[in-house]
Amino acid sequence: MPLRESRILIVGLGLIGGSLAAALKQYGFPGEILACDRDSCEIERGISMGIIDQGDTDLEALLPGCTMIVLAVPVMAMEAVLERLARAGDGKAVITDVGSTKKAIRDAAERTFGGLPTRFVPGHPIAGSEKTGVTAADAGLFRHHKVILTPDDATEAEAIGRVQALWTCCGAEVVAMGIDHHDEVLARTSHLPHLLAFSLVDTLARGDERLEIFRYAAGGFRDFTRIAGSDPVMWRDIFTANRDAVLAALDDFEEGLGRLRDAIAMGDGDAMLATFDRASHARRYFDTLMKQTSYQVGYQTMEHKKRHYRVAPGGHATGHIRVPGDKSVSHRSIMLGALAEGVSEVTGFLEGEDSLATLQAFREMGVAIEGPHQGRVTIHGVGMHGLKAPAGAIYVGNSGTAMRLFAGLLAGQAFDTELTGDASLTKRPMDRVADPLRQMGAVIETAEGGRPPLTIRGGQSLQGIDYDMPMASAQVKSCLLLAGMYAQGETRVREPAPTRDHTERMLNGFGYPVQRDGDTCWLRGGGRLTAGPIDVPSDISSAAFFLVAAVITPGADLTLEHVGVNPTRIGVINILQAMGADLALLNPHEVGGEPVADIRVRYAPLKGIDIPVDQVPLAIDEFPALFIAAANAEGTTRLRGAEELRVKESDRIKAMADGLSVLGVENRVHDDGIDIIGCTNQGPAYGGGHVDSLGDHRIAMAFTIAGLRAADEILIDDCTNVATSFPGFVELVNRIGMQVTEEAS
Ligand code: S3P
Repeated sequence: MPLRESRILIVGLGLIGGSLAAALKQYGFPGEILACDRDSCEIERGISMGIIDQGDTDLEALLPGCTMIVLAVPVMAMEAVLERLARAGDGKAVITDVGSTKKAIRDAAERTFGGLPTRFVPGHPIAGSEKTGVTAADAGLFRHHKVILTPDDATEAEAIGRVQALWTCCGAEVVAMGIDHHDEVLARTSHLPHLLAFSLVDTLARGDERLEIFRYAAGGFRDFTRIAGSDPVMWRDIFTANRDAVLAALDDFEEGLGRLRDAIAMGDGDAMLATFDRASHARRYFDTLMKQTSYQVGYQTMEHKKRHYRVAPGGHATGHIRVPGDKSVSHRSIMLGALAEGVSEVTGFLEGEDSLATLQAFREMGVAIEGPHQGRVTIHGVGMHGLKAPAGAIYVGNSGTAMRLFAGLLAGQAFDTELTGDASLTKRPMDRVADPLRQMGAVIETAEGGRPPLTIRGGQSLQGIDYDMPMASAQVKSCLLLAGMYAQGETRVREPAPTRDHTERMLNGFGYPVQRDGDTCWLRGGGRLTAGPIDVPSDISSAAFFLVAAVITPGADLTLEHVGVNPTRIGVINILQAMGADLALLNPHEVGGEPVADIRVRYAPLKGIDIPVDQVPLAIDEFPALFIAAANAEGTTRLRGAEELRVKESDRIKAMADGLSVLGVENRVHDDGIDIIGCTNQGPAYGGGHVDSLGDHRIAMAFTIAGLRAADEILIDDCTNVATSFPGFVELVNRIGMQVTEEAS
């Protein structure tokens, strides 16, 4: 909705009110901007700065003809202004405010108007500065900042739209939130830090009569206390109005401070390290989120800044490259390292968002973890029973592996936990782990339809079970083995087809015996893990995009170094070879119980095949890439028995079929697979176009390499999640000879 107000009245011409006026002027707002302030000098300054058209100290004189009124006075002064508006009331103007607490303002509006006016839209711009007064007004103050609106069910939609338009014109991003939630979140993210800054400066200043201490205070003091220069009246009002939420936040903080005090008093270096390490990484993670995303609560990304890839048609696939570490092994290295006794050193760790979410979760459960730094992570294991209850829900982002493996591991803990994820993960089935865990005696609640979030009640005594898995899933198998370590007796899992066996290999590597006989593996509860070094090989699932890139590009010669070629993961190699690909495994050897090799790939013409069903679980993550190979093969490639693809990060059969159709590649979709009719033209094999990855990292990467044989540019939407498994992907495809740019949408 465009901003159509003819006359906007700003009540309170301080930093926020003045900045709003300045931003509207800079935007080119064609209507009139009026201001009311009890200080006539501020009004004169506003007029001489050119940011308001007229003003007065008398509110009633300014009201006629105003279409919108913005209350920008301190929180405790709101009631008096609302009272005058209620008395004057023509009832037509939309009213909004900028107060930092919302409950107190809603209560004041209800008292003065005898109920919340339906055209009152409470708001709060999350922007500010320690400076005060209209002279500090800054037209850019709200640009790229959030404005939270807290309307209720009765608020007129039209009024909400108009207030939204007001802030959008100032370059802000508008989000909605409930009033209570707003006050609790702000108590922690804004009010508490201000309280600490005020208190620290006051305490130091009182203790040092001549204020000598400030002469020696440097960067740390300056960074921490800048906000102690903020407007005292405004902050007195905020703490008065949001008393309960601030006190709750302060109690939590005091508890944390007390723990740190004890650690220092007792010389407990491990406890100090654990706290500082968690904090320092959480702070860095927060920085990353600030750069990538628009709004977050805790670690929860509410709205990703969308990125798209622009892929120029054609290019080469040559060189020697190393893709990042294996995602499955990286997750497990943290999980087992954390539960082990002793210190585990990990190298080659995947610094992608999925495995980082697992790492962060263990920090939140009290495990000291150093790194990651260039793939190196040091985990100070706490033993099987050393985890601590996290302060809040564990957020695992996009990662199905993290959620399912955590479900098993946390079912065996003494404390309760909640597992949450992003929008994609929240649609994925979790009953496949919740059901067998319940058979073991775990108490787990899911949302409707067996979806996340998962609430896991701790302190249960688990019993080993003999479980026949209905689907071939390494995640389910691993979940049950992890729970089995905490269960009485044996936990046995039978798989209908072989799935990746990293959990079994790594448990054995950590000295926890896992047996296997044919299709069944089992372990006995009550054992221990012993820390050790872990060398994570490159991820064959990431390598797959480059294997296919080289296989489909005439003249290609590409070597991928140090790739994990565990027999339960090499479906992609087997399938490509069956299609006629020229792949050679060089320098095969073993690292930490996992086979690795360099893979050399050269172009060779491909033919379509019927993909053997027994290869499906062994190539489950590689089908998006394989579908691109199929699009470049002579004849039809048929895939069946792959219904699991429908419940991955997206419905991968549909996402790929839709994208292939955009490129002009003929295909037929089946419930459990797809037929792809390939093309072997000497030149481009298909066209270009605009493809939606549906936020699925592997769909985005598959259509990127498709560009090598496209006639025209391919534009791929929603590629942010490539960072979950493959940081540096764009740089690497460009290094082998493609031209791909990443742009903000
Ligand atoms: C994984 C197992 C596979 C795979 C996922 C990682 C693992 O899922 O798709 O990306 O690390 O155990 P399923 O076991 O559900 O097939």
